[in-house]
Amino acid sequence: MSETFDVAVIGAGPGGYVAAIRCAQLGLNTICIDEWKNPKGKASLGGTCLNVGCIPSKALLESSENYHHTKHKLSAHGITTENVSVDVPVMIARKDKIVTTFTTGIASLFKKNKVKSMHGKGTLLKREASATTWQIKVDDSGNTETVQAKHVIIATGSVPRSLPFAPIDNDRILDNAGALALTEAPNRLGVIGAGVIGLEMGSVWRRLGAEVTILEAMPGFLMAADEQVAKEAKSLFAKESGLQINTGISIKSIKTSKNNVVVNYSDSSNQEQILEVDKLIIAIGRIPNTTGLGFKDNGLLLDERGFIAVDQYCRTNLTNVYAVGDVVRGPMLAHKASEEGVAVAEMIMHFEKGRVSENETVDFNIIPWVIYTAPEIAWVGKNEQELKAAGITYKAGQFPFIANGRARAMGETSGFIKILADEKTDRVLGVHMIGPHVSELISEAVMAMKFSASSEDIACIVHAHPSLSEVFHEAALGVDKRALHI
Ligand code: FAD
Ligand code: NAI
Repeated sequence: MSETFDVAVIGAGPGGYVAAIRCAQLGLNTICIDEWKNPKGKASLGGTCLNVGCIPSKALLESSENYHHTKHKLSAHGITTENVSVDVPVMIARKDKIVTTFTTGIASLFKKNKVKSMHGKGTLLKREASATTWQIKVDDSGNTETVQAKHVIIATGSVPRSLPFAPIDNDRILDNAGALALTEAPNRLGVIGAGVIGLEMGSVWRRLGAEVTILEAMPGFLMAADEQVAKEAKSLFAKESGLQINTGISIKSIKTSKNNVVVNYSDSSNQEQILEVDKLIIAIGRIPNTTGLGFKDNGLLLDERGFIAVDQYCRTNLTNVYAVGDVVRGPMLAHKASEEGVAVAEMIMHFEKGRVSENETVDFNIIPWVIYTAPEIAWVGKNEQELKAAGITYKAGQFPFIANGRARAMGETSGFIKILADEKTDRVLGVHMIGPHVSELISEAVMAMKFSASSEDIACIVHAHPSLSEVFHEAALGVDKRALHI
């Protein structure tokens, strides 16, 4: 290709495609290269998030929750349902349709914003010190082309971490893609790893009828979450969701046969145990995807954990080469990847056009985390154990959903919201939620923290009655020991 682009983006997940759109909006001539193919062998934009991550998992969580709700919860409202059944292939087809709508939607967004899209695997080629542009070799099933660009944004994402003795076949042993494509609920489902994927996918198949056992290596449960939230979640998942979670285990072997998978492990008391299941999901974290990028030749530096090494502006060690999203340090979350993509696009525009950039770094402290289980879990900022470890003194205000009118009307009364505020300044340092729709409620907390709000500021805001958001309001009042409805 003879044209020289201002920016070439490698990877069209939420880091890459958003970066490409923002670059184009800012007037930069932009190309986005991506190698993803869907199961039908067609190029599909959107990366992990749209194809086998955020969107399809939420589609199945919604469908399975609807089934579970109809079957188990409507009778409390006086609604009788008989012979409620589920057609899993229809559920999967609905999920696939949602995925296609969004992946093709990105192709339209590229067209609208004049981003050139190219299918194939991109390799960043070594360049002479005097060169002012980068060359990327793009290989599409053996057909190669070279793309030339002044700036390169690498957004190649992540891939599942594997267990060496349990190769994924997506028949008996599944990764996230396999777990999203089952056409019937297994009778017995095992999950290795009680992290975000394990809990979300375990919830889907549990609601659809599987007996689910989750095996977790760490002694504690959800150790990244606030301890009180994690404790509440574990108890609610066991009581209400029916997820059997065994922590502190160590896997000894995993064997598959035509009919089942047998996991040998030692439990937290060092006793040998056997788990026999029909399907096993491996969800033990994800690793940065740098294969084929050419870092051994082009000199791109990785850190000790295999992530592309970047500074706070997402700059790599190579001039005008940036990296964003899962392939660099920080939370592996779609919104983090996108925000970094926007920040880098604006920084490039700053260099290229001499304009002032609006937003060049991403503050990880105000990135929300959400786990879409029932009840949902969400947090932002520091938790109690982090504040204690840092020696920061704080006040806590907490309010339960059971004391909220809207939650009662909905029949969703589990959980609470907790606000942690600085002892002296009252500035909000962290917000921790477990309960209905907290994936939505957390945004108010993020906004409060973004604007450096105090708990008093939140207490002064009028919240609609009756609404779940009143729980957040009451938690803020609770910081000053003046919650009204408890
Ligand atoms: P990716 O989305 O992984 O995209 C990278 C793209 O680069 C891919 O298309 C890949 O094919 C392409 N690529 C790689 N190498 C090359 C190359 N050399 N040349 C060309 N193309 C290349 N996050 C959330 O925030 N919320 C959620 O609810 C959520 N749910 C999830 C559920 C599951 C089951 C999984 C697995 C993940 C979930 N995540 C969620 C995480 C989220 O998907 C990732 O954080 C996000 O996709 C990272 O975006 P990215 O752009 O960095 O990389
Ligand atoms: P994870 O890091 O959330 O959880 C992995 C779990 O596996 C950990 O608890 C870990 O201790 C455990 N583990 C590791 N090795 C093990 C072993 N040998 N035996 C037993 N347990 C073991 O990773 P997960 O669930 O794979 O998800 C990857 C990432 O994808 C998440 O960290 C998150 O960033 C992202 N994601 C986000 C979602 C969301 O935002 N709602 C949903 C799904 C994924």
